[in-house]
Amino acid sequence: KHGYFTFDPGFLATGSCESAITFIDGGKGVLLHRGYPIDELATQADYLEVCYMLLHGEAPDEETYAEFKDAITKHTMVHQGIHNFFNGFRRDAHPMAMLCAVTGALSSFYHHDLDIHDSEQRLRSAYRLVAKMPTIAAMAYKYSMGQPFVYPRNDLSYSENFLNMMFSVPAEEYQVNPIIAKAMDRIFTLHADHEQNASTSTVRLAGSSGANPYACIAAGVASLWGPAHGGANEACLRMLEKIGSVDKIPEYIEKAKDKDDPFRLMGFGHRVYKNFDPRATVMRDTCHEVLQELDIDDPLLDVAMELERIAREDEYFIEKKLYPNVDFYSGIILKAIGIPTSMFTVIFALSRTVGWVSHWHEMMSEENQKIGRPRQLYTGHTQRKFSPLKK
Ligand code: SDX
Repeated sequence: KHGYFTFDPGFLATGSCESAITFIDGGKGVLLHRGYPIDELATQADYLEVCYMLLHGEAPDEETYAEFKDAITKHTMVHQGIHNFFNGFRRDAHPMAMLCAVTGALSSFYHHDLDIHDSEQRLRSAYRLVAKMPTIAAMAYKYSMGQPFVYPRNDLSYSENFLNMMFSVPAEEYQVNPIIAKAMDRIFTLHADHEQNASTSTVRLAGSSGANPYACIAAGVASLWGPAHGGANEACLRMLEKIGSVDKIPEYIEKAKDKDDPFRLMGFGHRVYKNFDPRATVMRDTCHEVLQELDIDDPLLDVAMELERIAREDEYFIEKKLYPNVDFYSGIILKAIGIPTSMFTVIFALSRTVGWVSHWHEMMSEENQKIGRPRQLYTGHTQRKFSPLKK
């Protein structure tokens, strides 16, 4: 425009990277983690098996898996000093604000173990983060409820432990329902990683400067919070509540089509998937299983199912290739389990921590790893003379 920049063919390259962790074919609705299809992992493996393969590259055998599970279990407790951080928050602070702050603060407890060029120290940080995020997430919920923190237990599975820390109270032990624990575990797996999405790219860019892993994951939490990204599950449920009934759907469909109306159908559309999000398919089945198990007849599910049906037949949504994404059904499951809407993105963040830290570990393992430096197309003024104020 001003003749002041020459197009740098490297422009598109500086923001991209090589990775062997996750493969997505948006046109075919394919999502592979280390080559394994997401629907097989979500229905045949548990979340910690998926964590192991994201971090280490291969599915664990029984012995390796037992060792990994034990290592994670032994890191689930947080330093007692972390408890004090919460006292500074208002009780109505958004749990994502607490998660973001406390995750970054974790680095202050491990200054002795932060050599990012040492693979073993990197993996120890990765294990600590995967292990502690559910504990911190549950603490944020307990703090917002004015209830005492519940310590992690070594006799429970990863998802059972999270549910117990969320719902146990001194007066009454939480009875873990295996169907609910399995659904929770599946939600963790379905959100574990997703290639170079906004929050993972944020973690990679932060890590490329040499920042410590806890600070990088805090940056990922911040990026995920946005309603266009991880905040969509919370926004989707609030949208379903706002629509309220099946007969109101056409009105909202028209609003979503109106370019002048900022309303978007949350839980629909994806930057990469242009046919269907394979995670949404598994999530939909899980949603029906949970509601059947709990014998819940949630009118929001009726609204969600009718919205999905209409959107699938509406020419605007077909033309724009807007299908339900991973966030469309997760909110209904979480609500059925008794998890408040404000905690939905926190659960997305704790699930995605393993993806973030696997990408960070992969990047920091590279020879000659360089700091990221995305370029720009300059559209401002050409050079001009400055006239100082007459003071
Ligand atoms: C996640 O990147 C990832 O991998 C993310 C994620 C992960 O696991 O990390 O998959 C998780 O973030 C899923 C997405 C959750 N977000 C939402 O559900 C929010 C609602 N969705 C939209 O905000 C939107 O679909 C995005 C942000 C997801 C994608 O936005 P894009 O890139 O603008 O979508 P697009 O280019 O494919 O849009 C095509 C058209 C556009 O219209 P035109 O400019 O072509 O006229 O469709 C329109 C958009 O305006 N459109 C929508 C819409 N989504 C896109 N119109 C109405 N409702 C919507 N939801």
